[in-house]
Amino acid sequence: MEKRVKKAIFPAAGLGTRFLPATKASPKEMLPIVDKPMIQYAVEEAAACGIEEFIIITGKYKRAIEDHFDSAYELEESLKKSGKKKLLEEISRLNHINFAYIRQRAALGLGHAILCAKPFVKDEPFAVLLSDDVIDAEDTLLKDMIKFYEELDCPILALQQVPGAEIQRYGVIDGVAEGDGIYKINNLVEKPRTEDAPSDLAIIGRYILTPDIFRVLECLSMGKGGEIQLTDALRGLLKNRSIYGYLFKGRRYDAGDKVGYLKATVDLALKNPQVSEPFKEYILNVASRLKK
Ligand code: UTP
Repeated sequence: MEKRVKKAIFPAAGLGTRFLPATKASPKEMLPIVDKPMIQYAVEEAAACGIEEFIIITGKYKRAIEDHFDSAYELEESLKKSGKKKLLEEISRLNHINFAYIRQRAALGLGHAILCAKPFVKDEPFAVLLSDDVIDAEDTLLKDMIKFYEELDCPILALQQVPGAEIQRYGVIDGVAEGDGIYKINNLVEKPRTEDAPSDLAIIGRYILTPDIFRVLECLSMGKGGEIQLTDALRGLLKNRSIYGYLFKGRRYDAGDKVGYLKATVDLALKNPQVSEPFKEYILNVASRLKK
């Protein structure tokens, strides 16, 4: 089996119910954070880690994603003519990337979305990035996970400590710390009640998986919420091989949630040189108004 992680899957076929009505007829993954759709942050993160093949799982009302990553001939010509070099560079920066699109016919869950990519992944390890989990570009989460995968030759799941009341929104692990932020996983539970959660370590939207997950996914029936759950497949896989978690200590925004999205927007705007100064002034102004 190929050992290098060259492929990445970006599941983007979910219904985005937490962000309605914005996501009624347009993709959640295309919601902009400052000036880029959230899926572009994930694509750039993967490209920075040496990923070479990009597989996007799309569904109904998701055509805008394909258009966004396509060349925009007319727009590029017009920017060329008007000498807007910087903008031209910005919109054509990812033109060298080749994307494959696979349509998930019904939103049957994250596990099912990943199974749809089986013909493209073949016999290779692959990364999965959920683009509504936005990770600051300064963090090296995915890079670190790839490094641990190459050392351990086992699937690696990104983990984050989350407060008790929020744990029921996540897949949660039971595991043993082995140093360097690595946990050997003993069990996984999807969306446990707070009192039943085996730990405060939640699985977040970055994974390095191996192709044997497909065999488990193919045999899986519907789990929590009537969906084919990736967490259930990972629990099945655990019977045959070790799986590790890697504890992420940086900043992650759950931008599929309205408040998480607003936090991501504020923090990333404050870091964006084009808008940070006037935006900071505005934020300070709001803060002083709120104090009164
Ligand atoms: P979420 O759990 O955020 O689900 O999916 P969702 O449907 O997008 O949003 P809510 O919870 O209803 O608000 C995590 C990721 O998995 C993808 C989503 O597009 C998102 O990137 N996904 C989810 C699929 O591709 N297919 C599915 O059937 C479900």
